[in-house]
Amino acid sequence: MAEKKIKRIGVLTSGGDAPGMNAAVRAVVRTAIANDMECIGILRGWQGLINSDFRKMDGTSVNHILSRGGTILYTARSDDFMTPEGRDRAVATCKMLGIDAVVAIGGDGTFRGALELSRLGVPVVGIPATIDNDLGCSNYTIGFDTACNTAIECIDRLRDTMQSHERCSVVEVMGRNAGFLALYVSIAAGATAVLVPERELDFRRDVIERIQNSRLAGNTHFMIVVAEGVGSAFEIGARIKEELGMDPRVTVLGHIQRGGAPNARDRETATRMGYRAVKALAEGRADCIIGTKQGDIVEVSIEEALTMKKHLQMERYDVLEAMGNFGR
Ligand code: F6P
Repeated sequence: MAEKKIKRIGVLTSGGDAPGMNAAVRAVVRTAIANDMECIGILRGWQGLINSDFRKMDGTSVNHILSRGGTILYTARSDDFMTPEGRDRAVATCKMLGIDAVVAIGGDGTFRGALELSRLGVPVVGIPATIDNDLGCSNYTIGFDTACNTAIECIDRLRDTMQSHERCSVVEVMGRNAGFLALYVSIAAGATAVLVPERELDFRRDVIERIQNSRLAGNTHFMIVVAEGVGSAFEIGARIKEELGMDPRVTVLGHIQRGGAPNARDRETATRMGYRAVKALAEGRADCIIGTKQGDIVEVSIEEALTMKKHLQMERYDVLEAMGNFGR
């Protein structure tokens, strides 16, 4: 619980950026102003709080950022914040700048930092933003939908040239240790096969036989999507070459997936989450993450949020498999 009335909020973005972070920052600043609070933008995430790296925000400082990718507050991953000394310096910055509460926008690393800061007496509210969509506390994380669409657009382009040359494409998508991005993208792009870290790999069953079945069904080009958590797409490509005698082309989509203008879902969700984060603080609630549950905005304590796991829905895997079985 926030014990005193919040007059000044610090807002920061931390960890890997995600399309829609700016929309969340805008919503935090505008809702704060509407509730007679001031807002300070902390630059470069937790490291900026340690270094007292900030920018005063008013209503106009967030003009025209709703549609912009990246984050105007910059972002970083801070090793210093992992140390008690670093966190003490962050608390000192809050005292110096008169920051009564912090809104932290990011993923699980950001929320681990948020928990530590809240334990030192600074009220914190977290907003989930990561293209990985791998947080148990929220059905949806800002940036996921835009990243899926970017990946699909890239794969559609790859398909054109793979189809012309009758080739096999191996595409590596991001997701860290999770396969959410890879699985969604595979279904939406009509992949021949997807490899995700949540499912133990049987190379013959999951790759070789799927390509063979697709070929027997009449296909002459193939699209294999590999989640980065499974390993290198180049190694997968080399094994396909070795076992099937094909010459696959390997593409690592990489950071392309994190850039670009946020789509409607990410702008809308980020705006609702930013609004709710400030409302929670205005109404005396803190030390929580603003998540989504069945389309609604919900608040979950940070401590509980960090214990929650999100499981890959394996029925989605079955859906992809079924789409590739038309030739059997
Ligand atoms: O967490 C978001 C993410 O894009 C992951 O999918 C990926 O593994 C990681 O960040 C890449 O981090 P960096 O930008 O530091 O290379």
